[in-house]
Amino acid sequence: MEVASKRMDLWFILLLLVIFVSTRVDSQNDSDSFINIDCGLAANSTTVDEETKLTFVSDDQFIDTGVNYKIAPKYVTNGIYTKYLTVRSFPNGTRNCYTLRSLSAGSKYLVRATFKYGNYDNKNAPPTFDIHLGVNYWDTVVISTSEGLPYTEIIATATSDYLQVCLINTNHGTPFISVLELRPLETTLYEDANSNQSLVTYARLNVGGDYLRYPDDPYDRIWQNYTKGSWTAIATNSSVQRDTDFATPSIVMQTAAITSSTNQSLDLSWKSDNDTTEFLIVFHYSEIQNIPPNTRQFDIFINGQRVQKFSSIVPDKLYPDWASSIRTDNTDYNVSLKATSNSTLPPILNAFELFVITPATGIPTYSGDVTTVNNIKANYHVKKDWSGDPCVPTKLSWTGVTCTSDSSNIPRITTLNLSYSGLTGAIASSFGNLSSLKSLYVP
Ligand SMILES: *[C@@H]1O[C@H](CO)[C@@H](O)[C@H](O)[C@H]1NC(C)=O
Ligand SMILES: *[C@@H]1O[C@H](CO)[C@@H](O)[C@H](O)[C@H]1NC(C)=O
Ligand SMILES: *[C@@H]1O[C@H](CO)[C@@H](O)[C@H](O)[C@H]1NC(C)=O
Ligand SMILES: *[C@@H]1O[C@H](CO)[C@@H](O)[C@H](O)[C@H]1NC(C)=O
Ligand SMILES: *[C@@H]1O[C@H](CO)[C@@H](O)[C@H](O)[C@H]1NC(C)=O
Ligand SMILES: *[C@@H]1O[C@H](CO)[C@@H](O)[C@H](O)[C@H]1NC(C)=O
Ligand SMILES: *[C@@H]1O[C@H](CO)[C@@H](O)[C@H](O)[C@H]1NC(C)=O
Ligand SMILES: *[C@@H]1O[C@H](CO)[C@@H](O)[C@H](O)[C@H]1NC(C)=O
Ligand SMILES: *[C@@H]1O[C@H](CO)[C@@H](O)[C@H](O)[C@H]1NC(C)=O
Ligand SMILES: *[C@@H]1O[C@H](CO)[C@@H](O)[C@H](O)[C@H]1NC(C)=O
Ligand SMILES: *[C@@H]1O[C@H](CO)[C@@H](O)[C@H](O)[C@H]1NC(C)=O
Ligand SMILES: *[C@@H]1O[C@H](CO)[C@@H](O)[C@H](O)[C@H]1NC(C)=O
Repeated sequence: MEVASKRMDLWFILLLLVIFVSTRVDSQNDSDSFINIDCGLAANSTTVDEETKLTFVSDDQFIDTGVNYKIAPKYVTNGIYTKYLTVRSFPNGTRNCYTLRSLSAGSKYLVRATFKYGNYDNKNAPPTFDIHLGVNYWDTVVISTSEGLPYTEIIATATSDYLQVCLINTNHGTPFISVLELRPLETTLYEDANSNQSLVTYARLNVGGDYLRYPDDPYDRIWQNYTKGSWTAIATNSSVQRDTDFATPSIVMQTAAITSSTNQSLDLSWKSDNDTTEFLIVFHYSEIQNIPPNTRQFDIFINGQRVQKFSSIVPDKLYPDWASSIRTDNTDYNVSLKATSNSTLPPILNAFELFVITPATGIPTYSGDVTTVNNIKANYHVKKDWSGDPCVPTKLSWTGVTCTSDSSNIPRITTLNLSYSGLTGAIASSFGNLSSLKSLYVP
């Protein structure tokens, strides 16, 4: 008996251990907390993405406006991923928003929107429109062809337990969207993305390497392949350690470019179309060749100004490091990595990231007012194009809603005009929850 019961205990402990270990593995699957939305897909359906093998869901549960379309057959080319075959288009309303729920306030997220026009509306007129993250401007989306796959990506801190992605009609065609993705990031990554500002990706290059994303990058960042004719691509099969500030994947760091001699600088350049744009420029480097210590040394210059304040860069073998700079220069940017005079080897660059620093300074409406007015909208089937924040930005505030900021600068709903709203059902106590409401007009 004694022995049997001990054996039972042991089995029980082993069983617990198995459950514990397996739930740990499950909960550590990075993709579990991803939100993958295939816009325009029939309600409640899902598809498995051929590119990432992730499951994408219909956008139906994330938005209640818009019309679904398929891209034109002409653009359904061989090998096109399923996620690009459908779009949701927004002919009505200036602002239409997706709501991504079950997030945590204060956490950091990467959000990406992709647009495959594919002449879905048979108008051969690719549109231009704005995209906002909540109450803040994110980017202007310029679609120039039917074939292209433009995307825009932002790294931002959530201020509440949801994020809204809004497409804004700026009178240059009907906004639409093909794919919407959200990936959680540890708050320690990309420290320049915080509650005051977000980072909009301008470029992310796997220098000397291939195009890659999830699962090669557990955060599903998209790394574009990049090299130049005058550069030499190099690679190693040994892994490079993880850096704690950007978590650049080893596979990205294992490839790099060098120039052909120490007197050749490694150059990159780009043009900004707005000379007030503030750029965050990040250089990722690691030694990946078998060389004697300290034989490769270089400096980084941006428009002639040295980036490092003190010593030159001496990359450590298979150990990552980075240099960064925040610049608002003229609209031309010329970056140069130059070997120091005593370096016997040319400069090296493994990866490069470039972001536009975008203010996240909009103050959302008082959350109690937002909840109440959304309840009113849902419960009474209000037929107005109410989407996004009710008050902010002012020029996009909801029709029939007037707001005033309270003493702590937080916008509050002060009047509600429900005339011609198609309001049905009894007027309930819910209006009482709008504690700053001064006037209410109902039909
Ligand atoms: C994580 O999820 C992906 C996609 O669902 C799946 O392919 C992969 O096998 C999972 N990995 C683990 C370790 O469970
Ligand atoms: C989708 O699922 C929801 C909830 O199960 C259901 O109410 C709705 O009718 C479904 N829609 C379609 C088009 O099947
Ligand atoms: C857009 O507005 C028009 C005219 O008001 C209406 O007929 C149509 O049903 C609306 N479409 C959607 C998708 O809301
Ligand atoms: C955001 O800005 C405010 C006001 O300028 C400042 O007090 C605060 O420290 C900033 N927060 C971060 C994370 O930079
Ligand atoms: C990236 O790879 C694709 C496919 O191999 C190639 O066509 C393209 O030229 C490459 N781009 C750059 C900038 O190297
Ligand atoms: C890496 O490994 C592959 C296959 O084992 C080999 O073909 C390649 O030459 C190796 N590359 C380097 C840089 O050592
Ligand atoms: C660059 O260096 C090589 C040898 O490393 C030398 O032959 C060549 O003359 C140099 N070119 C210039 C422009 O200095
Ligand atoms: C340039 O950027 C600033 C700040 O974001 C903005 O106010 C301005 O309208 C932009 N100018 C142009 C020409 O886009
Ligand atoms: C960048 O380089 C180009 C071409 O060499 C040059 O015309 C331009 O003036 C440079 N811009 C700056 C800001 O140095
Ligand atoms: C190269 O020169 C720099 C000063 O320009 C010096 O700090 C560094 O130690 C030198 N490196 C070697 C390997 O001599
Ligand atoms: C309420 O809105 C309607 C239009 O929807 C307008 O005609 C009416 O004057 C508004 N009432 C007040 C009191 O502002
Ligand atoms: C009004 O607020 C109360 C208390 O916060 C809450 O229980 C109730 O659900 C709210 N009603 C509506 C319609 O939002």
